Amino acid sequence: MFALIDGLEIAYDDVGSGPPIVFIHGFPHDRTLWTPQVGALVDHARCIVPDLRGFGETAPAPPYSMDQYADDLEALLAHLRIDRVVLAGLSMGGYIAFAFWRRHRARVRGLILADTKASADTAEAKTKRQELMAVVRERGGDAVAEAMLPGMIGKTTREKNPLAAEIVREMLRRAPVDGVVGALQALMERPDSTPTLATIDVPTLIVVGEEDALTPPKESRLMHDGIAGSRLEILAGAGHVSNIERASAFNHVVGEFLASVELV
Ligand code: MLT
Repeated sequence: MFALIDGLEIAYDDVGSGPPIVFIHGFPHDRTLWTPQVGALVDHARCIVPDLRGFGETAPAPPYSMDQYADDLEALLAHLRIDRVVLAGLSMGGYIAFAFWRRHRARVRGLILADTKASADTAEAKTKRQELMAVVRERGGDAVAEAMLPGMIGKTTREKNPLAAEIVREMLRRAPVDGVVGALQALMERPDSTPTLATIDVPTLIVVGEEDALTPPKESRLMHDGIAGSRLEILAGAGHVSNIERASAFNHVVGEFLASVELV
């Protein structure tokens, strides 16, 4: 499905019935990231799963920033006439969830922060993003997959779950160059969300793969310490895309969280 929002056609799935959950993919992913969660939740929740601008079936369109991605999601909710939602964001999706919370918190019933972190890019991380930008402009999606896949999935998945690794590789390979470059700029410029943590007063689940090399468990512990009443779940044998690498374990903790706080 597509929603025309400020001249941009945002692609999204809207499936299932029950309390609404918006799933926000990471970088450089698309909405297929969440296929295992939608399959598991479809009987319990209304799953709204957009492609962010510049990814999947949503065309690249500047400007790019965490605030802009968050505003796109808010406009999508307005379009769908949905008031409050649970927001589930993985990695960059988590950075966007923080921006959404700052700008539209009245719409947030709960948060699921997966394999993400509150801190901004270090100077070293910004340099790496600039380098990736140059490589992607020159060589496209293959270069993205080559550069990012090793950090994106955990050692256990690399050794024991080649299918999951292949699904992620394909997603990285098809990421459109303009969307990737725009998102890299947005990632570099994103603010530190650490001061936001203490303002979060809705039920929050933090999930992270034990082998996550990009946003490691220590970052999740910092978020857990900063968000009063939050829960932390560390999934053994999973890396950065823990929702694909250990889909059933991920779905289990999400299901438990949603039920325990009566969000589904
Ligand atoms: C992501 O998965 O969204 C990215 O790895 C986030 C990042 O590079 O900071």
